Amino acid sequence: MNVLLIGSGGREHALAWHLAQAEKCAALYCAPGNAGIEECAECVPIASDDIDGIVTFASEKAIDLVVIGPEAPLVAGLADKLRAAKIAVFGPSAAAARLEGSKAFMKDLCRKYEIPTAAYGRFTDPEQACTFIREQGAPIVVKADGLAAGKGVIIATTVEEAEQAAKEMLSGAAFGESGREIVIEEYLDGEELSFFALADGTHVVPFGSAQDHKRAFDGDKGPNTGGMGAYTPAHMMTQTLADEIMNIIIKPAIDAMAAEKCPFTGVLFAGIMMIDGKPVLLEFNTRFGDPECQALMFLFDGDLLDILDAAAKGRLKDVEDQIYWRQGVATCVVMAAQGYPAQYSQNTAIDLGEADFVAETKVFHAGTARDAAGKLVNQGGRVLGVTSLGATIEESRSRAYEAAGRISWPEGFYRKDIGWRAAGR
Ligand code: AMP
Ligand code: GLY
Repeated sequence: MNVLLIGSGGREHALAWHLAQAEKCAALYCAPGNAGIEECAECVPIASDDIDGIVTFASEKAIDLVVIGPEAPLVAGLADKLRAAKIAVFGPSAAAARLEGSKAFMKDLCRKYEIPTAAYGRFTDPEQACTFIREQGAPIVVKADGLAAGKGVIIATTVEEAEQAAKEMLSGAAFGESGREIVIEEYLDGEELSFFALADGTHVVPFGSAQDHKRAFDGDKGPNTGGMGAYTPAHMMTQTLADEIMNIIIKPAIDAMAAEKCPFTGVLFAGIMMIDGKPVLLEFNTRFGDPECQALMFLFDGDLLDILDAAAKGRLKDVEDQIYWRQGVATCVVMAAQGYPAQYSQNTAIDLGEADFVAETKVFHAGTARDAAGKLVNQGGRVLGVTSLGATIEESRSRAYEAAGRISWPEGFYRKDIGWRAAGR
């Protein structure tokens, strides 16, 4: 099979690394890819939002399957355009990607189909939004309806902060068009986990769990980021909990999307808050998490191409007994440029040293590039995902930290406490 992967992050390096090992993978391309992905795929300089460029390339190269990593091209309709050109795609249509692309759509769907989630209101008018905020009181959560690169959620601890966030979003000042409508919701206090499932439009199967670490610094302090590290499986995951999440959240959502005539194909990633032992849905994403995917791919032991291809073609039932996982725990420690998630320097030199030689370890690249001399430099904020497997969380994180310690990058930083919740049990 000729396979085209879309994206350029650590998630895509992990997917490319796994896809390249698949028996049927004859050629693997990645648009646009990064300096790490080059080891396992041919990177082509087509941006992930260049929909026409991607469709043309896929037709020319007789691509048999396109795997779409990031949310923006999904929401923009890349999967629809590819399907119209008769090219198989792992990833939802624009209509189905509204589960991530519109928080108002997602909340209304949950209400209609009785999927447990925080109580909420939808607003386009700042006066009405502020009245609602004052009635509800703080803490309260204000969310831009549309995509906002992971920054569109404000957990306000005071009424004033919530009112200000609502006004800034609705005026377009904070997130442009994405904030012209907002969702204001009940603050849920509990422990979070990420749950993944693969769907082929009608059938859906669980595909692992993880815990992300969203704050920039140790002890869950500092600004929110895209994710500074993750481990899988989440420490609280049991078969009973997985069944419950499938039965009350995932399956009802997949059935609802089919009933609404926008069947979901791809990865459904549920952000779950555990409240008194019960799972409550925080949000859906319509793609793999980053850095959760790096840890998941390190633990996944089946043939990824077979599974994603079957999902893309409505045949998930045929392969669901081929989803295998290695024993143990996988941990991904993200190395980011100092200053991230705010301003950071680019083109700073990175020496990976002997990091990859630590047992059961792989360094996935995210924001990396090669300079004119071929040396590795950073280009993005999140730059590396040092990922290790161990029999236990302790072994897996100690391997990841051993490897991170071997990397020389004075302009980088990483959290030293990834997996602390699991390690503390
Ligand atoms: P999102 O951008 O939708 O992925 O949300 C980002 C993060 O905000 C989530 O992972 C949670 O940590 C937090 N969050 C979202 N909604 C709520 C809520 N209703 N209560 C508490 N925290 C929330
Ligand atoms: N790590 C969280 C996300 O990918 O949305």
